[in-house]
Amino acid sequence: MKGFKIIEWLGDRIRTVDQTRLPHEEVFIELADHHEVAEAIKTLRIRGAPDIGVAAAYGFVLGSQNITVDSRDKFLSELHLVRETLSLSRPTAVNLFWALDRMNRIAQSGKDVAQIKAELLAEAQRIESENDEANRLLSEFGAELIQDGFTILTHCNAGSLATAAYGTALGIIKMAVEQGKKVKVYADETRPLLQGARLTTWELLKEGIPVTLITDNMAGYFIHKGEIDCIIVGADRIAVNGDVANKIGTYTLAVLATENAIPFYVAAPVSTIDPSISSGDDIPIEERSPDEVTHIQGVRTAPEGVPAANPAFDVTPHYYVSAIITEKGVIREPYVERLGTILASNRPSGKSRSSKRAARFFR
Ligand code: MRU
Repeated sequence: MKGFKIIEWLGDRIRTVDQTRLPHEEVFIELADHHEVAEAIKTLRIRGAPDIGVAAAYGFVLGSQNITVDSRDKFLSELHLVRETLSLSRPTAVNLFWALDRMNRIAQSGKDVAQIKAELLAEAQRIESENDEANRLLSEFGAELIQDGFTILTHCNAGSLATAAYGTALGIIKMAVEQGKKVKVYADETRPLLQGARLTTWELLKEGIPVTLITDNMAGYFIHKGEIDCIIVGADRIAVNGDVANKIGTYTLAVLATENAIPFYVAAPVSTIDPSISSGDDIPIEERSPDEVTHIQGVRTAPEGVPAANPAFDVTPHYYVSAIITEKGVIREPYVERLGTILASNRPSGKSRSSKRAARFFR
């Protein structure tokens, strides 16, 4: 986002905006160890799958820097606890585990403590910059699907705040606007925690992109009236068969899109595809506190004692997904084959822009 770094490395701590305080206050917090990073992820001060991945990588670095032993074996066993603490922060966004696995591989391959510490920082910085490049590339691919004059519906927040980078669903919208297309956005408010109302509208207003806020239950009304040309959302985890876990309410939108014959696009970097999960049935869904449903912004809206359910994500089956837009290209059915090809060709350093041409194959 213009003039705004979502995660900033300060040498012995990270600085990030507290997303729970937006849009009313732009408060920055500084986190000096992995416990603080894990807590910030758990409480959604840091949120959105790629943002969680980048933060976890720096949390791993902070954890490593705070270990004072010289023995490599003792260092690695303390580092294991760092990884465990971060991995317990949230269960659904696979970018968290993907980043921790990358960091752990670097740690295991290092010769001594000093070398491991230096290489962990370099790896976290690589994760951050590769993530931004992936966001920009997928946004270029996605923008090709957006026509001048389109009205786009989005859910939750998949912009710079959620990615510590250019953005995924909102990145595509921003790129289309940079290309000179006139687009309008409808943003679902996204109960219970209002990421759409608080964060997506805030980002789009800052970018000068026209946005209209609607409550989640208005989406069908506007789609049925023919006012929406396509839906674009982000993802927290994508199974190898193309099933997509994203913010609760995404599945409903996908069904509405199919019923009303408009495209339903999912935008995500390849790091959001989990090669170990063959279908959405195996994606762990985070269950959060019922207080988030019985209250809005801390104010009780339901009677004392009423039970409330609070799954934070749902799974959209692949047959409702018109395309998955990644930095490797626009992927359509059959997802098993095409996502498999992408995963097989994906190398941690295989990030050149020339991959754009090869990726056109998938359209
Ligand atoms: O609970 P949150 O706010 O972390 O959920 C975020 C989402 O569901 C986003 O849509 C997803 O992480 C994609 S972010 C590019």
